[in-house]
Amino acid sequence: MGKNIDWKNLGFQYLQTEYYVKCEFKNRKWGDIQICTDPHISLHIAATCLHYGQACFEGLKAFGRKDESIAMFRPDQNAQRLISTARRLVMEPPPQELFLSMATKLILLNKAYVPPYGTGASLYVRPFLIGTSPHIGVHASEEYALIMLASPMGAYYKDGFYPVKAYIQEEYDRAAPKGVGDVKAGGNYAAGMMGDLDGQKKGFPICLYLDSATHLYIDEFGTSNFLAITKDGKYATPDSSSVLPSVTNHSLQDIARDFGLTVERRKIRVSELADFAEVGACGTAVVITPVSSIRHGDRVYTFGKENEAGATLMRLYNEITGIQYGEIEDRHGWMYRVDAA
Ligand code: PLP
Ligand code: COI
Repeated sequence: MGKNIDWKNLGFQYLQTEYYVKCEFKNRKWGDIQICTDPHISLHIAATCLHYGQACFEGLKAFGRKDESIAMFRPDQNAQRLISTARRLVMEPPPQELFLSMATKLILLNKAYVPPYGTGASLYVRPFLIGTSPHIGVHASEEYALIMLASPMGAYYKDGFYPVKAYIQEEYDRAAPKGVGDVKAGGNYAAGMMGDLDGQKKGFPICLYLDSATHLYIDEFGTSNFLAITKDGKYATPDSSSVLPSVTNHSLQDIARDFGLTVERRKIRVSELADFAEVGACGTAVVITPVSSIRHGDRVYTFGKENEAGATLMRLYNEITGIQYGEIEDRHGWMYRVDAA
Protein backbone atom coordinates (compact mmCIF):
# COMPACT_ATOMS: atom_id res chain seq x y z
CA MET A 1 0.00 0.00 0.00
CA GLY A 2 1.13 3.54 -0.66
CA LYS A 3 0.62 4.52 2.96
CA ASN A 4 4.13 5.61 3.83
CA ILE A 5 4.48 8.06 0.98
CA ASP A 6 5.41 11.64 1.80
CA TRP A 7 2.81 13.03 -0.66
CA LYS A 8 3.81 16.68 -0.23
CA ASN A 9 7.45 16.11 -1.08
CA LEU A 10 7.07 13.91 -4.11
CA GLY A 11 9.11 14.93 -7.13
CA PHE A 12 8.83 13.64 -10.68
CA GLN A 13 10.57 10.33 -10.33
CA TYR A 14 9.53 6.74 -10.80
CA LEU A 15 7.93 5.26 -7.74
CA GLN A 16 6.75 1.72 -8.12
CA THR A 17 3.11 0.94 -7.43
CA GLU A 18 1.68 -2.49 -6.83
CA TYR A 19 0.13 -3.25 -10.20
CA TYR A 20 0.38 -2.45 -13.85
CA VAL A 21 -1.76 -3.56 -16.77
CA LYS A 22 -0.86 -5.03 -20.10
CA CYS A 23 -2.66 -5.98 -23.30
CA GLU A 24 -1.11 -7.81 -26.23
CA PHE A 25 -1.95 -7.61 -29.91
CA LYS A 26 -1.43 -11.06 -31.43
CA ASN A 27 -2.99 -12.86 -34.39
CA ARG A 28 -4.44 -9.51 -35.49
CA LYS A 29 -6.44 -8.89 -32.35
CA TRP A 30 -6.12 -7.33 -28.92
CA GLY A 31 -6.31 -9.86 -26.08
CA ASP A 32 -7.61 -9.53 -22.53
CA ILE A 33 -6.32 -6.92 -20.12
CA GLN A 34 -3.74 -8.61 -17.88
CA ILE A 35 -3.04 -7.46 -14.34
CA CYS A 36 0.68 -7.71 -13.60
CA THR A 37 2.99 -7.11 -10.65
CA ASP A 38 6.53 -8.03 -11.76
CA PRO A 39 7.90 -4.83 -13.34
CA HIS A 40 10.28 -6.79 -15.57
CA ILE A 41 9.07 -8.03 -18.93
CA SER A 42 10.36 -10.70 -21.22
CA LEU A 43 11.14 -9.52 -24.76
CA HIS A 44 12.56 -11.18 -27.85
CA ILE A 45 16.12 -9.92 -28.43
CA ALA A 46 15.18 -8.96 -32.01
CA ALA A 47 11.95 -7.13 -31.08
CA THR A 48 11.36 -4.09 -33.33
CA CYS A 49 11.02 -1.76 -30.32
CA LEU A 50 14.62 -2.49 -29.34
CA HIS A 51 16.24 -2.03 -32.76
CA TYR A 52 14.05 0.15 -34.93
CA GLY A 53 12.32 2.39 -32.45
CA GLN A 54 8.79 1.04 -32.69
CA ALA A 55 8.15 2.45 -29.24
CA CYS A 56 5.92 5.31 -28.20
CA PHE A 57 4.15 6.52 -25.10
CA GLU A 58 1.63 8.82 -23.47
CA GLY A 59 1.40 10.64 -20.16
CA LEU A 60 -1.67 11.73 -18.22
CA LYS A 61 -2.73 12.29 -14.65
CA ALA A 62 -5.43 11.09 -12.26
CA PHE A 63 -6.44 13.34 -9.39
CA GLY A 64 -7.78 12.74 -5.89
CA ARG A 65 -10.44 15.47 -5.89
CA LYS A 66 -12.19 17.74 -3.42
CA ASP A 67 -15.35 15.59 -3.37
CA GLU A 68 -13.15 12.50 -2.80
CA SER A 69 -13.74 11.21 -6.32
CA ILE A 70 -10.86 10.18 -8.58
CA ALA A 71 -10.77 11.46 -12.15
CA MET A 72 -8.38 11.53 -15.08
CA PHE A 73 -7.82 14.70 -17.10
CA ARG A 74 -8.91 14.30 -20.75
CA PRO A 75 -7.75 10.69 -21.27
CA ASP A 76 -9.63 10.55 -24.59
CA GLN A 77 -7.14 13.11 -25.94
CA ASN A 78 -4.19 10.93 -24.96
CA ALA A 79 -5.91 7.89 -26.47
CA GLN A 80 -6.34 9.76 -29.76
CA ARG A 81 -2.76 10.99 -29.74
CA LEU A 82 -1.50 7.44 -29.15
CA ILE A 83 -3.52 6.37 -32.19
CA SER A 84 -1.90 9.13 -34.32
CA THR A 85 1.54 8.23 -33.02
CA ALA A 86 1.03 4.51 -33.66
CA ARG A 87 -0.13 5.18 -37.22
CA ARG A 88 2.89 7.40 -37.93
CA LEU A 89 5.28 4.71 -36.64
CA VAL A 90 3.43 1.94 -38.56
CA MET A 91 2.36 0.33 -35.29
CA GLU A 92 -1.02 -1.13 -34.32
CA PRO A 93 -3.21 1.68 -32.91
CA PRO A 94 -4.99 0.59 -29.71
CA PRO A 95 -8.72 1.49 -29.76
CA GLN A 96 -9.76 4.37 -27.50
CA GLU A 97 -12.13 2.13 -25.47
CA LEU A 98 -9.26 -0.24 -24.68
CA PHE A 99 -7.07 2.70 -23.64
CA LEU A 100 -9.77 4.04 -21.30
CA SER A 101 -10.58 0.64 -19.76
CA MET A 102 -6.93 -0.10 -19.11
CA ALA A 103 -6.26 3.29 -17.54
CA THR A 104 -9.38 3.01 -15.36
CA LYS A 105 -8.42 -0.49 -14.21
CA LEU A 106 -4.85 0.62 -13.50
CA ILE A 107 -5.95 3.51 -11.30
CA LEU A 108 -8.53 1.48 -9.39
CA LEU A 109 -5.98 -1.27 -8.75
CA ASN A 110 -3.52 1.31 -7.45
CA LYS A 111 -6.06 3.41 -5.53
CA ALA A 112 -3.78 3.45 -2.48
CA TYR A 113 -1.26 5.41 -4.55
CA VAL A 114 -3.62 8.17 -5.65
CA PRO A 115 -2.40 11.17 -3.64
CA PRO A 116 -5.12 12.53 -1.35
CA TYR A 117 -6.77 15.84 -2.19
CA GLY A 118 -4.86 18.79 -0.76
CA THR A 119 -1.37 17.39 -1.22
CA GLY A 120 -0.87 19.01 -4.65
CA ALA A 121 0.23 15.65 -6.02
CA SER A 122 -1.40 13.32 -8.56
CA LEU A 123 -1.10 9.82 -9.97
CA TYR A 124 0.83 9.93 -13.23
CA VAL A 125 -0.28 7.31 -15.76
CA ARG A 126 2.27 6.22 -18.36
CA PRO A 127 0.86 4.13 -21.22
CA PHE A 128 3.38 2.81 -23.73
CA LEU A 129 3.19 0.75 -26.88
CA ILE A 130 6.00 -1.42 -28.22
CA GLY A 131 6.55 -3.64 -31.25
CA THR A 132 7.44 -7.09 -29.97
CA SER A 133 7.91 -9.25 -33.08
CA PRO A 134 11.46 -10.25 -33.99
CA HIS A 135 12.77 -8.72 -37.25
CA ILE A 136 16.31 -8.14 -38.36
CA GLY A 137 15.30 -6.45 -41.62
CA VAL A 138 13.64 -3.06 -41.09
CA HIS A 139 10.04 -4.11 -40.94
CA ALA A 140 6.96 -3.26 -38.86
CA SER A 141 6.12 -5.68 -36.07
CA GLU A 142 3.06 -7.91 -36.31
CA GLU A 143 2.72 -8.13 -32.53
CA TYR A 144 2.49 -5.32 -29.99
CA ALA A 145 2.19 -4.81 -26.26
CA LEU A 146 0.33 -1.91 -24.71
CA ILE A 147 1.41 -1.47 -21.09
CA MET A 148 0.28 1.13 -18.58
CA LEU A 149 2.10 1.88 -15.36
CA ALA A 150 1.29 4.38 -12.65
CA SER A 151 3.51 6.44 -10.38
CA PRO A 152 2.52 9.11 -7.85
CA MET A 153 4.10 12.43 -8.70
CA GLY A 154 4.55 15.92 -7.32
CA ALA A 155 5.92 18.92 -9.22
CA TYR A 156 8.19 18.28 -12.21
CA TYR A 157 10.53 21.10 -11.31
CA LYS A 158 11.79 20.82 -7.74
CA ASP A 159 11.30 24.53 -7.15
CA GLY A 160 7.59 24.41 -8.02
CA PHE A 161 5.86 27.33 -9.68
CA TYR A 162 8.90 29.57 -9.93
CA PRO A 163 10.34 30.95 -13.14
CA VAL A 164 13.24 29.20 -14.88
CA LYS A 165 15.83 30.42 -17.36
CA ALA A 166 15.71 28.90 -20.83
CA TYR A 167 18.31 28.53 -23.56
CA ILE A 168 17.70 28.44 -27.30
CA GLN A 169 19.51 25.34 -28.44
CA GLU A 170 20.80 25.75 -31.98
CA GLU A 171 23.59 23.16 -32.00
CA TYR A 172 21.14 20.27 -31.95
CA ASP A 173 17.67 19.95 -33.47
CA ARG A 174 15.10 17.56 -32.04
CA ALA A 175 12.46 17.31 -34.78
CA ALA A 176 12.22 17.80 -38.55
CA PRO A 177 9.27 19.52 -40.30
CA LYS A 178 7.91 16.32 -41.87
CA GLY A 179 9.43 14.03 -39.28
CA VAL A 180 7.93 12.72 -36.04
CA GLY A 181 8.03 15.76 -33.74
CA ASP A 182 4.23 15.96 -33.83
CA VAL A 183 3.84 12.47 -32.32
CA LYS A 184 5.09 10.96 -29.08
CA ALA A 185 7.79 8.61 -30.37
CA GLY A 186 10.21 7.39 -27.70
CA GLY A 187 13.12 8.24 -30.01
CA ASN A 188 12.22 11.95 -29.95
CA TYR A 189 13.38 12.10 -26.36
CA ALA A 190 16.72 10.45 -27.11
CA ALA A 191 17.09 12.98 -29.95
CA GLY A 192 16.57 15.82 -27.48
CA MET A 193 18.83 14.58 -24.69
CA MET A 194 22.12 15.92 -26.08
CA GLY A 195 20.71 19.42 -26.58
CA ASP A 196 19.04 19.46 -23.18
CA LEU A 197 22.20 18.20 -21.48
CA ASP A 198 24.29 20.87 -23.20
CA GLY A 199 21.82 23.52 -22.00
CA GLN A 200 21.94 22.16 -18.45
CA LYS A 201 25.74 22.26 -18.46
CA LYS A 202 25.49 25.94 -19.41
CA GLY A 203 23.16 26.49 -16.44
CA PHE A 204 19.73 26.39 -18.10
CA PRO A 205 17.13 23.92 -16.79
CA ILE A 206 15.20 23.95 -20.09
CA CYS A 207 16.01 24.35 -23.76
CA LEU A 208 13.87 25.92 -26.44
CA TYR A 209 14.12 24.45 -29.95
CA LEU A 210 13.58 26.28 -33.24
CA ASP A 211 12.14 24.92 -36.48
CA SER A 212 14.98 22.86 -37.86
CA ALA A 213 14.59 23.98 -41.49
CA THR A 214 15.29 27.69 -40.96
CA HIS A 215 15.97 28.30 -37.24
CA LEU A 216 13.85 31.43 -37.58
CA TYR A 217 10.71 30.27 -35.77
CA ILE A 218 10.00 28.91 -32.31
CA ASP A 219 8.96 25.26 -32.05
CA GLU A 220 8.81 24.09 -28.44
CA PHE A 221 10.80 23.23 -25.32
CA GLY A 222 12.34 19.75 -25.01
CA THR A 223 9.38 18.25 -23.18
CA SER A 224 6.72 20.98 -23.24
CA ASN A 225 4.93 23.41 -25.55
CA PHE A 226 5.75 27.11 -25.78
CA LEU A 227 3.11 29.67 -24.88
CA ALA A 228 3.36 33.42 -24.45
CA ILE A 229 1.21 36.29 -23.34
CA THR A 230 1.86 39.26 -25.60
CA LYS A 231 2.28 42.77 -24.21
CA ASP A 232 -1.24 43.53 -25.48
CA GLY A 233 -2.67 40.54 -23.61
CA LYS A 234 -3.07 37.84 -26.30
CA TYR A 235 -2.27 34.16 -25.88
CA ALA A 236 0.28 33.14 -28.54
CA THR A 237 1.56 29.65 -29.31
CA PRO A 238 3.53 28.32 -32.31
CA ASP A 239 1.89 26.74 -35.32
CA SER A 240 4.44 24.19 -36.48
CA SER A 241 4.33 20.72 -38.01
CA SER A 242 7.10 19.55 -35.69
CA VAL A 243 5.62 20.25 -32.25
CA LEU A 244 3.62 17.82 -30.18
CA PRO A 245 -0.08 18.77 -29.94
CA SER A 246 -0.18 19.27 -26.17
CA VAL A 247 -3.38 18.45 -24.30
CA THR A 248 -2.40 21.03 -21.66
CA ASN A 249 -1.82 23.74 -24.27
CA HIS A 250 -5.18 23.08 -25.98
CA SER A 251 -6.94 23.18 -22.61
CA LEU A 252 -5.17 26.40 -21.60
CA GLN A 253 -6.23 27.95 -24.91
CA ASP A 254 -9.87 27.11 -24.12
CA ILE A 255 -9.49 28.62 -20.64
CA ALA A 256 -7.81 31.72 -22.11
CA ARG A 257 -10.81 32.16 -24.44
CA ASP A 258 -13.13 31.71 -21.44
CA PHE A 259 -11.23 34.58 -19.85
CA GLY A 260 -11.83 36.70 -22.96
CA LEU A 261 -8.27 36.52 -24.28
CA THR A 262 -7.57 36.28 -28.00
CA VAL A 263 -5.71 33.07 -28.84
CA GLU A 264 -3.23 33.13 -31.70
CA ARG A 265 -1.75 29.91 -33.01
CA ARG A 266 0.74 31.09 -35.58
CA LYS A 267 4.36 31.07 -36.62
CA ILE A 268 6.40 32.94 -34.03
CA ARG A 269 9.75 34.47 -34.98
CA VAL A 270 12.52 34.40 -32.38
CA SER A 271 12.75 38.21 -32.62
CA GLU A 272 9.15 38.40 -31.35
CA LEU A 273 10.34 37.31 -27.92
CA ALA A 274 10.92 41.02 -27.33
CA ASP A 275 7.14 41.57 -27.55
CA PHE A 276 6.13 39.07 -24.91
CA ALA A 277 5.14 39.97 -21.38
CA GLU A 278 5.02 36.39 -20.08
CA VAL A 279 6.39 33.09 -21.39
CA GLY A 280 5.58 29.62 -20.17
CA ALA A 281 6.38 25.97 -20.88
CA CYS A 282 3.32 23.75 -20.61
CA GLY A 283 2.66 20.03 -20.40
CA THR A 284 1.00 17.38 -18.27
CA ALA A 285 3.92 16.99 -15.88
CA VAL A 286 4.69 20.65 -15.29
CA VAL A 287 1.24 22.13 -16.11
CA ILE A 288 2.91 25.54 -16.63
CA THR A 289 6.49 26.48 -15.85
CA PRO A 290 6.96 30.23 -16.10
CA VAL A 291 10.09 31.25 -18.01
CA SER A 292 11.84 34.36 -16.72
CA SER A 293 14.37 34.73 -19.53
CA ILE A 294 15.50 33.14 -22.77
CA ARG A 295 19.08 33.30 -24.00
CA HIS A 296 19.60 33.35 -27.76
CA GLY A 297 23.31 33.58 -28.60
CA ASP A 298 24.51 36.79 -26.98
CA ARG A 299 21.03 38.19 -26.51
CA VAL A 300 18.86 37.64 -23.43
CA TYR A 301 15.11 38.27 -23.54
CA THR A 302 13.50 38.78 -20.15
CA PHE A 303 9.87 38.49 -19.13
CA GLY A 304 8.37 40.12 -16.07
CA LYS A 305 10.07 40.08 -12.69
CA GLU A 306 12.89 37.60 -12.25
CA ASN A 307 11.48 35.59 -9.36
CA GLU A 308 7.79 36.04 -9.93
CA ALA A 309 5.36 34.22 -12.19
CA GLY A 310 3.33 36.50 -14.47
CA ALA A 311 -0.27 37.24 -13.47
CA THR A 312 -1.94 35.73 -16.56
CA LEU A 313 0.02 32.50 -16.45
CA MET A 314 -0.71 32.24 -12.74
CA ARG A 315 -4.43 32.72 -13.41
CA LEU A 316 -4.42 30.07 -16.16
CA TYR A 317 -2.51 27.67 -13.90
CA ASN A 318 -4.93 28.17 -11.01
CA GLU A 319 -7.93 27.63 -13.27
CA ILE A 320 -6.71 24.41 -14.90
CA THR A 321 -5.51 22.88 -11.62
CA GLY A 322 -8.75 24.04 -9.94
CA ILE A 323 -10.73 22.08 -12.56
CA GLN A 324 -8.44 19.06 -12.17
CA TYR A 325 -8.83 18.94 -8.38
CA GLY A 326 -12.59 19.59 -8.52
CA GLU A 327 -12.43 23.05 -6.92
CA ILE A 328 -13.77 24.76 -10.04
CA GLU A 329 -16.70 23.56 -12.13
CA ASP A 330 -15.69 21.23 -14.96
CA ARG A 331 -17.48 23.40 -17.52
CA HIS A 332 -15.80 21.77 -20.53
CA GLY A 333 -16.48 18.19 -19.42
CA TRP A 334 -12.77 17.34 -19.23
CA MET A 335 -12.69 15.16 -16.14
CA TYR A 336 -13.22 11.41 -16.58
CA ARG A 337 -14.38 9.72 -13.38
CA VAL A 338 -12.72 6.38 -12.72
CA ASP A 339 -14.65 5.42 -9.59
CA ALA A 340 -18.41 4.88 -9.50
CA ALA A 341 -20.19 8.25 -9.64
N1 PLP B 1 5.80 18.68 -26.00
C1 PLP B 1 6.52 17.58 -25.76
C2 PLP B 1 7.71 17.33 -26.61
C3 PLP B 1 6.15 16.70 -24.74
O1 PLP B 1 6.87 15.62 -24.48
C4 PLP B 1 5.01 16.97 -23.98
C5 PLP B 1 4.58 16.06 -22.92
O2 PLP B 1 3.81 15.19 -23.08
C6 PLP B 1 4.28 18.14 -24.26
C7 PLP B 1 4.70 18.97 -25.28
C8 PLP B 1 3.05 18.46 -23.50
O3 PLP B 1 1.97 17.68 -23.90
P1 PLP B 1 0.77 17.36 -22.91
O4 PLP B 1 0.24 18.67 -22.47
O5 PLP B 1 -0.20 16.60 -23.72
O6 PLP B 1 1.36 16.58 -21.80
C1 COI C 1 4.82 15.93 -19.75
O1 COI C 1 4.03 15.17 -19.23
O2 COI C 1 4.64 17.15 -19.77
C2 COI C 1 6.02 15.40 -20.37
O3 COI C 1 6.68 16.09 -21.07
C3 COI C 1 6.41 14.05 -20.09
C4 COI C 1 7.90 13.90 -20.15
C5 COI C 1 8.42 13.29 -18.91
C6 COI C 1 8.29 13.17 -21.36
